[in-house]
Order: sequence, then structure tokens, then C-alpha cells
Amino acid sequence: MIFTIPAPLEAEIDELISHYPKKRSASLMLLHAVQEHFGHISRDAVEWVATKLGLQPINIYELVTFYPMFRQEPAGKFQIKVCRTLSCALGGSGKLHEHFCAKLGLDAHMHGLQTTKDGNFSIEFVECLASCGTAPVMMCNEDFYEGVSLAKADEIVGGCK
Ligand code: FES
Repeated sequence: MIFTIPAPLEAEIDELISHYPKKRSASLMLLHAVQEHFGHISRDAVEWVATKLGLQPINIYELVTFYPMFRQEPAGKFQIKVCRTLSCALGGSGKLHEHFCAKLGLDAHMHGLQTTKDGNFSIEFVECLASCGTAPVMMCNEDFYEGVSLAKADEIVGGCK
């Protein structure tokens, strides 16, 4: 299958590129736009972005693999991110992750991104979400939650419709 970018997204991308004196400087913005549209950044998307910016695929691939906010695999409709850095680890983020996994039928020992079979939920550990004083901290899509108890975790999952 040939990888294509819908015309409105390409127009958005052209607009983004126009804001930078050098095309290459728009790399991260383009990756954000592509991920927002497709939910992840595939190999084909990496090549497309590289061609668009007159770069080699490796120049884009190294960004996708370096920055943890970029995903190479599709994620679920609801993406749960549990902070595992020191304050949150001490505040019980391991138990929180375990609780979500048990509830969603996922593997509590897997630390990378994993997604439920129905594609509804993904969970992964992430590093510090910059709210260390209110551990444990997590996000569900764009929503941020602090001091998350196991009961609150159930409430969050229950609210994902
Ligand atoms: S350690 Fe979790 S927010 Fe900083």
C-alpha cells in the first residue's frame, strides 16, 4: 500500500514549514502533526517526512526513537501514562500500573506500551510528568491526574467512553 497524507494535513504541514527559515527546523512539528493524525509514526511516515524536508529517513527516524512522546506503534483510543520516576515510584506508581493492567487484562510486568485487544486502552510507564509533589501522577490522553488512588484509577477507566 502506498503511504499518502490527506490534503488538509499536507496543507497544515506546508504551513508549518513556512514558519521556519530552514525546512529541517520543522521536523518535530511535522512529527507531532503526523502522530496527531495517524496516532503513531510509521516507517512510511518517517520516509514521507524526510522527503518533504529534503532529508534522509535516518534524520527523522533518530528523532522518533529519541523523543519518548513519539510512538512507532498504534496506541489505544485512551492512552494511560503512569509516571515511574522516583517520587511517583515511592508514591505507589508501580501498584497503580499493576492495578490498571489487572483491570484491563494486560501484563503488569511489561514496561513498554501495550494495548488491549479491543484497541480501547493503551498503558505505558513514562518519566517525570513534572508534578512530583503530588505523586503518583498519571495522564489519560490529555487529562492530568495527581495523587491517584486505586479507587480513582477505577473511576478514570470507568469515565473513558
Ligand atoms: S516523579 Fe512523577 S511527576 Fe515527577
